[in-house]
Amino acid sequence: MICFFIYFWLNSRRIGLQDVELPICSVSKMFNMSKQIKSKARVEERGEVFTNEREVTAMLDLVSAECLRPDSRFLEPACGNGNFLVAILERKLDEVKRKYRSAHRDYEKQSIIAIGSLYGVDIMKDNVEECRVRLFDIWDKRYKTICKKDCSDEARESVRFILRRNIVCGNALTLNCVDENGNDLLDQPIVFSEWSMISGTQMQRRDFTFAELLARKDNDVALFNGEAEGKFVDRYITHYKNLQPNG
Ligand SMILES: C[S@@+](CC[C@H](N)C(=O)[O-])C[C@H]1O[C@@H](n2cnc3c(N)ncnc32)[C@H](O)[C@@H]1O
Repeated sequence: MICFFIYFWLNSRRIGLQDVELPICSVSKMFNMSKQIKSKARVEERGEVFTNEREVTAMLDLVSAECLRPDSRFLEPACGNGNFLVAILERKLDEVKRKYRSAHRDYEKQSIIAIGSLYGVDIMKDNVEECRVRLFDIWDKRYKTICKKDCSDEARESVRFILRRNIVCGNALTLNCVDENGNDLLDQPIVFSEWSMISGTQMQRRDFTFAELLARKDNDVALFNGEAEGKFVDRYITHYKNLQPNG
């Protein structure tokens, strides 16, 4: 499975960027994308300046083909409240709609694959929560518009579950999860789940530690690709609309 990485500098260390409970409220009203700074203290403490829409668009245009494929994975290790991930999701869902707008089951499945392809880490809990909610709101709004009476709450629960696993409150430098104050939880390494459809409606989830994924020599090319995929933690197979009860 091809994945895509973009690189950037975070706290003087080069780390990969590219390819928890979800609060149910509309973050689109909570957050204005054009707002780049939340507070001076946060800029000083965490270097938190969000990328504006124009730069996000220009960067994603460099990898525009990958942004169209629902299963092309992107990992952003300092995702903030999700400006890049949101824009990638919108591009992917535009393409899924173009192909499957009149086949509701296919739209549902492909849109779930698309949201499952996006991964993020941020050290600030509020950013992680905003990111999850922004992604959910975009997915759900389009789901309702396209699938109408064929929408199901099971699909929504699966998407919430995927977002809780994929958008992680963690430290991308130490590769550990963090508590609500940003302190490392030393016994909780960041774990990412690879989601893939293995038959008509069966979805497989395989968990890998972030540390092992980064340790791969070819991690600038692919994530979850082929045999040597990092330390395998767990594996689950279930219907794509029944992810949560089965882990
Ligand atoms: C410059 S902002 C960029 C946010 C987002 N990527 C964007 O372009 O809008 C940097 C982000 O990195 C996060 N951050 C800082 N140190 C971090 C660390 N060690 N691990 C994970 N995230 C971190 C901050 O909370 C902040 O959201």
